[in-house]
Amino acid sequence: MDLLLDINGLSVFFGGVQALNKLSLQIRKGEIIGLIGPNGAGKTTAFNAITGRIHPSEGSVFFCGKEITGWPAPRIARNGIARTFQNIKLYEDLSVIENVMIAAHSSISYSFIEAILGVGRYSRDEARIKSRAYELLELMNLGELASEQANSLPYGSQRKLEIARALALNPRLLLLDEPVAGMNPTETREFGQFLLTLRDNLSIGVGLIDHDMSFVMEVCDMIRVIDHGIPIAWGTPSVVRNDPKVISAYLGTDFNGAMDNHATN
Ligand SMILES: Nc1ncnc2c1ncn2[C@@H]1O[C@H](COP(=O)(O)OP(=O)(O)OP(=O)(O)O)[C@@H](O)[C@H]1O
Ligand SMILES: [Mg+2]
Repeated sequence: MDLLLDINGLSVFFGGVQALNKLSLQIRKGEIIGLIGPNGAGKTTAFNAITGRIHPSEGSVFFCGKEITGWPAPRIARNGIARTFQNIKLYEDLSVIENVMIAAHSSISYSFIEAILGVGRYSRDEARIKSRAYELLELMNLGELASEQANSLPYGSQRKLEIARALALNPRLLLLDEPVAGMNPTETREFGQFLLTLRDNLSIGVGLIDHDMSFVMEVCDMIRVIDHGIPIAWGTPSVVRNDPKVISAYLGTDFNGAMDNHATN
């Protein structure tokens, strides 16, 4: 089935404040869908409601045809939605490879005794998890840093490590909250290429939040724009960037500057 994520009328209130107002969005296999909007628009809140970190006040979330609204976050992750966080969440004191291995562990089950004794499925799984973790690090160009401590990595590399860790869950849908924040322009361009390759080769779906407009316009198939929690536009990058409602929502920010950059790139 091609339709991965299907959210309808999703709303979130914090106290009396409506952070998200009837958001609808679909993500299919092989698509990269952007979710953009000014600061405080409700983008991260939308991801939190989809992935079970917060409960939506109304609306529904379907994943691969199954309703997952209100499921706890670990169950949603196990079902195939992996995400990264705007504020990077790594095990800072662990090594780079251990960070990826821990994520892979969450999808494996063996008995406590096997784990203690290091026998049976446990030792086989450990070897397999480790080699898979290396593969994912290589994929993100982090192979040489495998034994470094996670918090010694530069910011851009920590973001890539978060993505390697998300991929360790073998997701069908990957939700990225500002993945290129902190990356330099070269890293951002490489990451854009990587994302397109990932989408094509793994045929997963990707939901993407970012403020780097030239990056968003470059990689997204379709873009949903929200402002103050309210959906204001939906369309291809070229439609969205010429939409007067979008331009006015971004007034006072660098949206137009970013667009000019894009046009000349
Ligand atoms: N846990 C929370 N409790 C109360 N208010 C919250 C909470 N999380 C978010 N908000 C509020 O909800 C609104 C939307 O926040 P959100 O973080 O989703 O915005 P965003 O679009 O991700 O912004 P940014 O681009 O700055 O990351 C903001 O007004 C924010 O202050
Ligand atoms: Mg956010």
